[in-house]
Amino acid sequence: MIRAGGCVAVPTETVYGLAADATDSHAVAGIYAAKGRPSFNPLIVHVPDLAAAERIAVFDSAARDLARRFWPGPLTLVLPVRPEAGISSLVTAGLDTIALRVPDHRAMQALLDAAGLPLAAPSANASGSISPTRAEHVAKSLGGRIPLVIDDGPTPAGIESTIVRGREVLRPGPLSAADLFAGKLDAVPRPSHANGKVTAPGQLESHYAPAKPLRLDAAERRAGEWLIGFGALGGDDNLSPGGDLVQAAANLFDALHRADASPTPAIAVVPIPGRGIGAAINDRLRRAAHPRG
Ligand code: TXA
Ligand code: MG
Repeated sequence: MIRAGGCVAVPTETVYGLAADATDSHAVAGIYAAKGRPSFNPLIVHVPDLAAAERIAVFDSAARDLARRFWPGPLTLVLPVRPEAGISSLVTAGLDTIALRVPDHRAMQALLDAAGLPLAAPSANASGSISPTRAEHVAKSLGGRIPLVIDDGPTPAGIESTIVRGREVLRPGPLSAADLFAGKLDAVPRPSHANGKVTAPGQLESHYAPAKPLRLDAAERRAGEWLIGFGALGGDDNLSPGGDLVQAAANLFDALHRADASPTPAIAVVPIPGRGIGAAINDRLRRAAHPRG
């Protein structure tokens, strides 16, 4: 299906992606059409290894160092694109940079190997809705609009990759700034629209939004709310009864899907600590609570 220019949903270690040949504009247009995604929002390209990535983008020594330490894994690097690599300009949305990553998942790696092509893959959900961490989530969001979902169970990390450009974290994710730049104190995560300049266009969009209102830092359940708990603060659901933030990240989107499907008209979430991957969890929750902000 990929070689014929189609889209296939496939799990990665972060979330399910909707993959297509990154060198074929018609195939990439199929991703945008299935998601209903604004075409100015560039896509992440997945490759099997660093050598394949270096054929598509220009690495400096700092980028190569990060790639060697964290690939395969949930790290996306934004780098100058090589025009001769033949990546569709629909993938980069006309930017002279490209977002690249080497996924750490057997299904996505097998698909990359079988296709022999770089694969553009945004999260496999309708634009603006909650990211999918299970094949059922994809089927619910995009069923009927895509021909195939490769089901390899729930995704282990559960939150989209950390996006880095130079020393700047453009999107928090499973790897924290401390993981990436330990000891390098000038590297701090900051919003991608700092100083009014857009560096990750997708970050300004409404994302991860459930269909219901979502209240954060809830001390208790109010009438009409489905409460998502964490640690000792229980609820209708609990992201991690033992207070493990990595487990909470893996469960986050599934919990939001369950809350959306519940009969209650609103959702509340207890406070989630901001350390480590908690920063990425809180980033996604803030976007879900303020989908138009
Ligand atoms: O974990 C992930 O990263 C998942 C899985 C499927 O790999 N993919 C994913 O892709 O989250 P997507 O398309 O939903 O998110 C792409 C993000 C957007 O925020 C987009 O604006 C940003 O990457 N992006 C892409 N190319 C960029 C570029 N050249 N410069 C800055 N940001 C870029
Ligand atoms: Mg997405």
